[in-house]
Amino acid sequence: MRKQKSQTVQDFFTFQAQTTPFACGLEITMAKGSYLYDNVGNSYLDFAAGVSANTLGHSHPAIVSAIKEQAEKYLHVMVYGEYALSPAVELCKKIDQITPDNLQSTYLLNSGAEAIDASLKLAKRLTGRRKIMAFKGAYHGNTHGALSVSDSKIHKEAYGPLLEGISTLEFNNFEDLDKIDDSFACVLIETIQGASGFILPKEGYLLALKERCLSMGVKLIYDEIQPGFGRTGTWFAFQNEGVNPDILVLGKGMGAGLPIGAIVASRQDMAAFSVAPKLGHITTFGGNPLVAAASLAMIQTMEEEKTMEKIAQKEALFRKLLLHPKIKSFPGKGLMLALEMESEAQCMQVANKCMEKGLIVFWLLYQTQFIRITPPLNISDEEIKKGCQILLTVLDEI
Ligand SMILES: Cc1ncc(COP(=O)(O)O)c(C=O)c1O
Repeated sequence: MRKQKSQTVQDFFTFQAQTTPFACGLEITMAKGSYLYDNVGNSYLDFAAGVSANTLGHSHPAIVSAIKEQAEKYLHVMVYGEYALSPAVELCKKIDQITPDNLQSTYLLNSGAEAIDASLKLAKRLTGRRKIMAFKGAYHGNTHGALSVSDSKIHKEAYGPLLEGISTLEFNNFEDLDKIDDSFACVLIETIQGASGFILPKEGYLLALKERCLSMGVKLIYDEIQPGFGRTGTWFAFQNEGVNPDILVLGKGMGAGLPIGAIVASRQDMAAFSVAPKLGHITTFGGNPLVAAASLAMIQTMEEEKTMEKIAQKEALFRKLLLHPKIKSFPGKGLMLALEMESEAQCMQVANKCMEKGLIVFWLLYQTQFIRITPPLNISDEEIKKGCQILLTVLDEI
């Protein structure tokens, strides 16, 4: 594999703000299907999918043509909520179709973290209460609001003071649910805990949580930003359990590779944002026509190509192929899978060696001994086999 030292890579480290002192700085010049291509002709099979964001891989023709078609018509024309723009309207209508009956109204936003903030505001406004229940091990994003309900002590200490009135429960601890009382506006839960190791709710846990929330008049908010849009074989992971939230938070894979966030609630609840005070949550670019057109094309394509019907079989293929003594556990569901290594150092070694051999894998935010496997949902069986072979070779070598 040839090394890249282009001007772009040098300028990336000089002019573009960095999130760590050790970004890999891979220069991508093209991406198609399940593959990325760099500036010196290397190709990489993508098992990360932009960290669960590229639902149908890269540059899917239906999405590209929807974007082109919309770009020819109009881009941004007005702030969110003023004009009736058909890509946004059609997307909201589609989301109504693929979500449970109690969720009818969608507010389109720009990122997951912004959508989390909006969901917390809506719950406060609806209940008149101020306290929020979140979870140990949770990750919800990086705005002040989203960071307040995330479980990263070092970041909270570095950037506090954050929101007051946040309490936490232990994920999957049924007894802990008693801590939810009628002083709380909402409980915010990831339907699969992402950063902490792709942890699924135990059977009956979401139901017990919902019952407790109902009895206390507390709004139940699901963060489906990562598992949402088919990753676990249903539109949303909570549909495996059949327990509906009051507010659903979306992002990442909803955007088909463009930036997006959204909250979905009942028409009646969502109306609270528009009165007393009006303009309860506003945004310039939410519902952007280009982004909405891409998202809508993605959902329609998933329906046409029956993408979700094949997820369980693809998960089974990964689980059949990835058998290795260095894999300590293999949590997750569908194409939201993680491999537990011995340590963060070993995980980094695997990611680096995989990249050298033409496979992109990534890691988890908090439990950094896990390698994430979150490929495009339309990855082929041959691509899965090829990537798993690279992974197994690397595991043998380290
Ligand atoms: C579960 C979950 N919630 C919220 C977020 C924040 O989304 P964004 O990065 O779009 O702000 C993420 C992003 O990784 C996430 O995985």
